[in-house]
Amino acid sequence: MSASERDGEGRGEGPAARYRSAEWFEGDDEVAVLNRVALRVGPHDRGRPVIGIADTSSGLNPCNAAFELVLPELERGVREAGGIPVRFPAMSLGEDLMKPSAMLYRNLLAIELEENARAHPLDGLVLLANCDKTVPAALMAAASVELPSLLLLGGARSAPRLDGRPLGSGTDLWRLLEQRRAGLVDAEKWGEVERVLSCAGPGSCNTMGTASTMALMAEALGMALPGSTGCPSADGELARLAHATGVQVVRQVQQDQLPQHRLTQPALDNAFRLLAAVGGSTNAVVHLAAVAGRLGLDCSLERVDRLWSDVPLLVDVEPCGTRLIQDFHQAGGLLSLAAAMIPAGLLHGGVATASGAPLADIAAAAPAPSGVIRTVAEPLRPGPTLAAVFGTLAPSGAVIKTAAASPDLLQHSGRAVVFDDYKEMRVRLDDEDLAVDPEDVLVVRGCGPVGVPGMPEWGMAPIPRRLVAAGVRDMVRVTDGRMSGTSFGTVVLHVAPEAAVGGALALVRDGDRITLDLERRRLDLEVDEPELDRRRQQTDPPARQHLRGWPRHYQEHVLQAPQGCDLDYLTGPTPESRRFVHP
Ligand code: FES
Ligand code: MG
Repeated sequence: MSASERDGEGRGEGPAARYRSAEWFEGDDEVAVLNRVALRVGPHDRGRPVIGIADTSSGLNPCNAAFELVLPELERGVREAGGIPVRFPAMSLGEDLMKPSAMLYRNLLAIELEENARAHPLDGLVLLANCDKTVPAALMAAASVELPSLLLLGGARSAPRLDGRPLGSGTDLWRLLEQRRAGLVDAEKWGEVERVLSCAGPGSCNTMGTASTMALMAEALGMALPGSTGCPSADGELARLAHATGVQVVRQVQQDQLPQHRLTQPALDNAFRLLAAVGGSTNAVVHLAAVAGRLGLDCSLERVDRLWSDVPLLVDVEPCGTRLIQDFHQAGGLLSLAAAMIPAGLLHGGVATASGAPLADIAAAAPAPSGVIRTVAEPLRPGPTLAAVFGTLAPSGAVIKTAAASPDLLQHSGRAVVFDDYKEMRVRLDDEDLAVDPEDVLVVRGCGPVGVPGMPEWGMAPIPRRLVAAGVRDMVRVTDGRMSGTSFGTVVLHVAPEAAVGGALALVRDGDRITLDLERRRLDLEVDEPELDRRRQQTDPPARQHLRGWPRHYQEHVLQAPQGCDLDYLTGPTPESRRFVHP
C-alpha cells in the first residue's frame, strides 16, 4: 500500500495532487495566509510539491564546498519538473576540523535533518552530503522521514602532484608521516607536502576513504543517482547530476516513492558486498548498521561476515589498491562493478536504483569491467577483504579490514602494550625507551562511542618510532575506536562492548597475551576468568569529562558499534514516523 492510499489522500501526478504541504497552505484562515506569504506561495504554485534542499556547505568544511557551484542546477531541475525548491542550512560536519571527531555530531545532523523536515511544509528532500559523516547522517535521516528523498553528493577533490605522481587523500599522507617518523622525510620535504596538499580543489577525499565509500553505499541503497560515486567535484558532470537529482526527486514525490521502498534487506546486503569488493572504509560498517537499525533490517556482524566471505577485491583504489576514486568513476563506477558482480551471484540485480530502474538493467549498459575494475575471475586479491571477529576480548564483535592488513599477522599471538589516553600514547610511541617488540599487540582503548565520546579515529596507533626506524611497518593493534577509511594496517577495530562501558578491553593489562585468529574469526584475551573477575572488582568506571550539552546527551544515549552508534531512542520505525507529521 502506498502512503497516499494509507492516508486516504488522493496524491498522484499532476496539479490536482494533494501533498503534505497542503496542511500548511490550504484554507482561508489567517494561518494558511501567513504560511503562503512566508514561502511566497502564489495561486500558480498551488498543487506544486515543495522540495527542501538541506545545504551542508560551510566555510568550515572544504569537502562540501562544491555545492555552491551546482545548487543553481539542482534548483533548476526541481523547477523544471514542477516543484518549488527551498534551500535551508544544515550543520556541516567537516572531518578535518571537528574535535574530538565529526562522528560525535553525525547523529545530531541526522536529527536536525529529520526535525527540519518534520516541522516544515516539505513534500520531498534533497540532502547535500559529501564529507564522511554528512553522508551517513543524511541516509539515517532519509530512513526516518517518510518523504521522497535523494542525496546529492558533492564530488571528489582533484589530486595534487608530489614528485610527479598524484597524491591520494589520507593514505599517501599517512605513508609520508611514517617515513618522517623514520627520519626519511626532512622538514623541507614535509613543508612541500603541505604546500602541495593545499593546492587540491574542493571536494571529498579522492581515495576509497569513508566519504567515497559512503557515496558508493548511498548509490547502492538507491539514495543517490547512478554514476554519482567519484564524480570529480570540478566537473560539468556534477552539475548534470545536480539537475537530474532535482528532476528525479519531484518525480518521486509525484509517484509517492519513499526511501523505505528502496532501503530494503537485499539493497543493504548489496551495500555490504560492494563495501567488500572495493576494500572500503570500515566506518561504513557502523554507518550501515545505523541505517539498518532505523528500518529494522538485519545487519548483525555474523550476517555481514557471511556476506563478505566470498567477495574478492575488485577495485584498484587506495588504500587497498593504487589508483584514485576518479579513476573508478571513469572506469564505469558502481554500474561496471555491478556488471562484474551480478553474474557471479554476488549482488541482487533486482534492487531499485535512485533512477527507478532495477540495478541489473542499467548495469547491463555500463562499460565492461577493465583496468581499475576487475572481473570476479581476475580479482586483485581473493576475499575476504573484511571480516568480523568475536571472542573473549570482543563478545559482541569487532571488525578488521584484512585487505589492508599484513597476511602474516592475521594469525598472531602477542603481549599487550596498553594505552588509555591518545595524547599520552603519541608521546610514549615516540619514546625510544618504550618497552615494545614487533610481536607485541598495541591496545588503544577508551575511544569507543561512550569513551571520548564520539568514537574518534584513534585506533590505528602509529608504529613505535624505534621500531619504524628498524624497518617495522605493521603490528597487530586492537581498539574500541575507529580508523580513517584511508588508513591501513592490521588493526582490529570497533571492539564491543567498549572499555568505557566495562567491556573486557578495560581489563587488559600490559603483558597479557592476546590472540587474533582470523581463520576461526576469534579475538581472545588469554587470561582466565577468575583473574578477570578479580580485575573487574578492582576497575572503577572511567570518569566522564563532558558534563553538559550534546556530548553529555550523546554519552547517555549512544549505542555500541554493532548497533551503529545511533541513539537508543532513534532506532526502529516508530508509529509516529508512519505519518511523519506533528500531532
Ligand atoms: Fe572530508 Fe575526507 S576529510 S571527505
Ligand atoms: Mg576520513
